[in-house]
This record gives sequence, structure tokens and C-alpha cells, in this order.
Amino acid sequence: MQTVAVLSLKGGVGKTTVTLGLASAALRRGIKTLVIDLDPQGNATATLDPQPAQFGLAEVLTTPRPPVLSQAVSRSAWDEQVHVLTGNHALEELNEGPDEGTLPNLARAIAWYADPANGPRYELILLDCPPSLGRLTRSALLAATGALVVTEPTMYAVSGAQRAFAAIERTRKEHNPRLRALGVVVNKFRSRSHEHMYRIAELRESFGQLVMPVALPDRLAVQQAAGSCTPIHEWSTPGGREIALAFNLVLARMLRSSRRGRHHLEPPEADEEETSGDAERNGSANGSALQAPVRRPPANAPRRPDEPQPAKR
Ligand SMILES: Nc1ncnc2c1ncn2[C@@H]1O[C@H](COP(=O)(O)OP(=O)(O)OP(=O)(O)O)[C@@H](O)[C@H]1O
Ligand SMILES: [Mg+2]
Repeated sequence: MQTVAVLSLKGGVGKTTVTLGLASAALRRGIKTLVIDLDPQGNATATLDPQPAQFGLAEVLTTPRPPVLSQAVSRSAWDEQVHVLTGNHALEELNEGPDEGTLPNLARAIAWYADPANGPRYELILLDCPPSLGRLTRSALLAATGALVVTEPTMYAVSGAQRAFAAIERTRKEHNPRLRALGVVVNKFRSRSHEHMYRIAELRESFGQLVMPVALPDRLAVQQAAGSCTPIHEWSTPGGREIALAFNLVLARMLRSSRRGRHHLEPPEADEEETSGDAERNGSANGSALQAPVRRPPANAPRRPDEPQPAKR
């Protein structure tokens, strides 16, 4: 079983979208999945629309004991294969203030759910984190076997991803040696944007092959499917199919990285999986066409500064 924390330290970049897209891809592959919504906003919960359960994540974190744990998970409206541990505003006060020794409670709860004697045999647990390094995200990193960093290809992407990796590294060294950085997912990519190309090249210079070779395109289908509580793989518009395919590739890569124990930042080099296709330009919805081009910024783009922080433009 793999437990993957989906995080970024910035709001609105697509953590919930990536969590839901991966759950949808896992559903397609018949992978039994539990989504744990750590965000007080409860956005993943709203889109998964689970059957009512007696308890939610807030109760699980304060009282991680079998009578609570056994009544906290329910099936989503998507399918019996996808279960949910719900998040709501009650999580807000668990995100701040002193730790009081409760940080490992999520790991305790997940260990309980991982025991087949206590319920279904999950193959994948996805942790949708809130947009901060507060207690909830830190408890996710303590409980996870892998961490996926989500970013947009915009100005502060590199520094945001660096801070996220620093948090992952710190947690791995100090508390959770099983934790592996699985990669950076670039979301809301527009292939015609020079700015986006430049920022992706910048991310690749900093993080090498940790940057997923598939960037998730900016498509209206994402919002439409989420709004109608539907897995993106069932949203059969061209944009829906395109991004569903991208999620398949990200899931496959993530599971492979997890098995290999991908962790260390590698020197930048060409990745054999990368291509320079472009779905928008080709009008195509095939997988390789979705991949973000791997090339230096165009000659008229601003030069990348030597220091790791992105240049202000
Ligand atoms: N690839 C995409 N194409 C189009 N819209 C997208 C895409 N990814 C995310 N969005 C939209 O952007 C908004 C923010 O996405 P999302 O809620 O996934 O971000 P988040 O990082 O989870 O936010 P928060 O930090 O508030 O939890 C949502 O309206 C979502 O539908
Ligand atoms: Mg979210």
C-alpha cells in the first residue's frame, strides 16, 4: 500500500485537482483507493460526495481509536472502489497552535486502516493537504510513504517547490525515514505561453527528473467535472479525455517512482520519456502530445539567474 501526500505551500495550484485526478485514474485501473481530505475547505470531500459517515477526519485526528476509525470512512458517490475520510471546517483549529503530541495520529489511523482485518485492503491512500505547512500537512508527511509536490508554471514555482522539498527532506530525516519525494507535478500548463515554458525549464534545471514529464493542461473540463462530482475519466469532452490521459501517466510514473524509491534531487538531464509534442498546436489528445516541451527558454525570454530563486519579471 502506498500513502501519498499531495502538497504545495501555495493555495489554488491544484492539489485537490491532482488528488481527484489520481483517484479517478486509480479507479480506471481498479486500484482500491482511500482519499483523506485534510483541508478544512473540504473541496475533495464535496466532489467525491461520500455517503454520510458518523465521524470525519477531525474526530479521527483527535481520537484515533477503533470505535471512531471504524465509523469514519465511507464510499464515494463515484464508485465502491473509492472511499473517503472527510474534511470540514472542524479541521481548522487542528491546523494551528502547539502540536500537543497529536501529529502522529494520522499515521496511527492509517496504520489501522492498512490492516485488512479492519476494512478493505486499500492499495493507495491519497492525502489532499491544505495550502500551508501547518500541523495538518506535517501530519500528512509523517504518515506518508511518498510526497507529490504540485505547482503552477508561474513566477514563484521554483521557490515554492524548494520549500516543499525542504519540508519533505526535514520530515524524512527527523521523523519518517520511509518518506520519498515522488516528484513535481506542473498543473494548469498552457503550451502557447512562453512564460510557462520558461518556468518549466527553470523547474527542470532545479529539480531534474523529479519534474513529471507530463504537465497537466489548463482545461475547463477540470472545473466542470469537479462541479458535477464526476471522475475526470468519465468527462468525455476532448479536454476531459486529454487531462484524464495525463493523469494516467502521472499515476503510472508516481507508482513507479514509489517502487524505485525516487528521492534524491538528480542532476538535470534529458529524460527518455520526454517529448516536445503539443496537444493544443496539434489539436491532438494523445498522451505524448500533452507533455511539456523540454527545452531552454526561447532566446527572447529573460535569462535564468544563477541563484535558485526565479527572476522577478
Ligand atoms: N488543470 C486545470 N485546468 C483548469 N482548471 C483547473 C486545473 N487545475 C485546477 N483548476 C481549477 O483551479 C481551482 C483551484 O484548484 P484546486 O482546488 O485543485 O487547488 P488547490 O491547490 O487544491 O487549492 P487550495 O489551496 O485552496 O486547496 C479550482 O477551481 C480548479 O477547478
Ligand atoms: Mg485543495
